[in-house]
Amino acid sequence: TKGVITLDPGYKNTGSCESAITFLDGEKGILRYRGYSIEELAEKADFLEVAYLLIFGELPTQEQLDKFHADIKSHSVVDDDIKKILDAFPKSAHPMGVLASLTSALTAFNPTSVNVDSEEEMYNAIVRILGKFPILVAWTMRKKHGMPLDYGSSSLGYVENILQMMFKNPTSDYEQNPILINALDKLLILHADHEQNCSTSTVRITGSSHAGLFVSLAAGISALWGPLHGGANQAVLEMLEAIKEDGGDTKKYMAKAKDKNDPFRLMGFGHRVYKNFDPRAKIIKVAANEVLSDLGVEDPILDIARGLEKEALEDPYFVDRKLYPNVDFYSGIIYRAMGIPVEMFTVMFALGRLPGWIAQWREMRLRKEPIGRPRQLYTGETYRPFKSIEKR
Ligand code: SDX
Repeated sequence: TKGVITLDPGYKNTGSCESAITFLDGEKGILRYRGYSIEELAEKADFLEVAYLLIFGELPTQEQLDKFHADIKSHSVVDDDIKKILDAFPKSAHPMGVLASLTSALTAFNPTSVNVDSEEEMYNAIVRILGKFPILVAWTMRKKHGMPLDYGSSSLGYVENILQMMFKNPTSDYEQNPILINALDKLLILHADHEQNCSTSTVRITGSSHAGLFVSLAAGISALWGPLHGGANQAVLEMLEAIKEDGGDTKKYMAKAKDKNDPFRLMGFGHRVYKNFDPRAKIIKVAANEVLSDLGVEDPILDIARGLEKEALEDPYFVDRKLYPNVDFYSGIIYRAMGIPVEMFTVMFALGRLPGWIAQWREMRLRKEPIGRPRQLYTGETYRPFKSIEKR
């Protein structure tokens, strides 16, 4: 009958609801990776340390971290034929679509199946993708802007080399700015994992059929692309730009966001789980201030963002619905200050989320979880006999 959910007695919960990786409390605005607070990790660790923590469960010793980085570097190269696939895309292609395709394409040049009972095979697959993914990210951006593809330098740190690969100009050396390195490192840490969000659930359920790690990640990239999810950071900047072009009239956009007949939403606000400030947004807001002042950049967009936030936090519509700024509200302001084009913002989110996706895929496979198979609440027609076309 309609509206009644009946679960078979043997029904196994395959909704991947158990995990030991990330804890978040939406009411209190708490986020911890393997028990460590996001505030401490953002302040005291670097991105590769946090990646190691998320994936293997413990903060690495210096020796473990050095080996991890060296092993990643040994895989920081892609088959040259990847460039032919990249060439096939028009410059108008959205970088998230390119990145998802290239990540899938890696399976053509690397081992696809991973024997999860072999620690070595699992480890090799992990360092392989951590080495290759930043190259795909950088090349996706450079291709779109007609820049030659660059591998950066193996003498640089992980995050430094990401910036080098993205921005190295053939006519001049890229100047490694500690402010930008620190800001990117912090942003990547803050995006690294977030429990069972839309894209992570996609990675887990795709991997639960024993599809390979790379194609499971490609599925996660596709899910992250949506403007309600990771695509929000691009949508936030486009919204702030539109408000600026419109004379900075934040009240007009607040009214649009509250108008049920208007599909406009205040991008970067609200969250399925946080009904308090997203702890990441608090950290990013401070970092945005620091980066812009350290760089001596006056960005009117930041003033508009602050004004919008202040209004929303005082507006009953937002207060009643517990709509607070989320991780995407301020991150784009920092990316923009770093010279990253707005269409690359969600790609940067994927770069940060990579260790979390890997950790969640690894956990699901090591636990030998059954194939994901969510059930449904059937609300369609009850049985009815076939009707011949003459009688329809
Ligand atoms: C991320 O899950 C994760 O952890 C995601 C993420 C991660 O790290 O992986 O944190 C990253 O995706 C952050 C969210 C980025 N998305 C945006 O900023 C897009 C704008 N936000 C919304 O679309 C929305 O808030 C969601 C999608 C984030 C959450 O939507 P919900 O929980 O399904 O809330 P809802 O759509 O049921 O809305 C509840 C009410 C509705 O009003 P009423 O029907 O009760 O009158 O709040 C309103 C909504 O209309 N509302 C908004 C709003 N978000 C919700 N109104 C205006 N502007 C908004 N942004």
